[in-house]
Amino acid sequence: MHRPSSSRLGHTIHALGTVESTQAEAGRLAAAGAPEGTVVTACHQTAGRGRRGRTWLDTEGESLLMSVVLRPPIPPDQAPQLSLVGAVAVVDALHASAGLHASIRWPNDVMVGERKICGMLPEAATSAPGTLGHVILGIGLNVNQAVFPEPVRTLATSVRMETGRESDLGLMMESVLGALGRWYGRFLADGIDGVREAWLERSQSIGRRARCADGREGVAVDLGRDGALVLRTDSGEMLRILAGDVTMEAANAARD
Ligand code: BTN
Repeated sequence: MHRPSSSRLGHTIHALGTVESTQAEAGRLAAAGAPEGTVVTACHQTAGRGRRGRTWLDTEGESLLMSVVLRPPIPPDQAPQLSLVGAVAVVDALHASAGLHASIRWPNDVMVGERKICGMLPEAATSAPGTLGHVILGIGLNVNQAVFPEPVRTLATSVRMETGRESDLGLMMESVLGALGRWYGRFLADGIDGVREAWLERSQSIGRRARCADGREGVAVDLGRDGALVLRTDSGEMLRILAGDVTMEAANAARD
């Protein structure tokens, strides 16, 4: 079946003021039948959701807070692949719109150097057992922060902190949606392989030492087609990490 090489995302944009979470708003719209490409943005979230049940904090008007309704014809267990698509797209958008050289920390944190500039949250809903109904891809991009509060002060950065300039949130959204549409179109047409290759090219995790919360550790050597991080332990064993907390050592701390 012929598929277009890019998908038009953002044909309908619900630009909201203060909400609990754009994920919840987009989820409601998707459950009511909103088509693929519907986008929800907000100026501020009172209960922003991060990965692994964490909260995602923002100060009004400083971040791009965005949730995109996607309806890919894939099985539910492949839904996490969409966050790889999103991370690759945000790296490209930051380069195109702000000249920034960002990279990806597994699985989908977008980083400038050792500081996080963007987080991604794919939330899937099944329509029937074993059938994916929709995925809400949440993107939180730090744009106009001049400083971050503790405890993320030294862990986070923003487009403004990296470029010295404020950016227009609307233009930044267009840039992210454009890149996301291109990479999502490629994912629909060709599957995960091209996206995986692009992820590896943009990754800062490969070659670094990683430690899982359960104590297992090794050097990251590859990304599986399912999005798993492949670690080689000191005894040469290969470990596949699909989910969970992984601490990546900083660049200058990696061992051979
Ligand atoms: C992470 O923990 O890195 C993922 C953060 C995702 C945050 C975005 S902001 C827009 C959307 N709405 C939410 O509540 N979360 C996502």
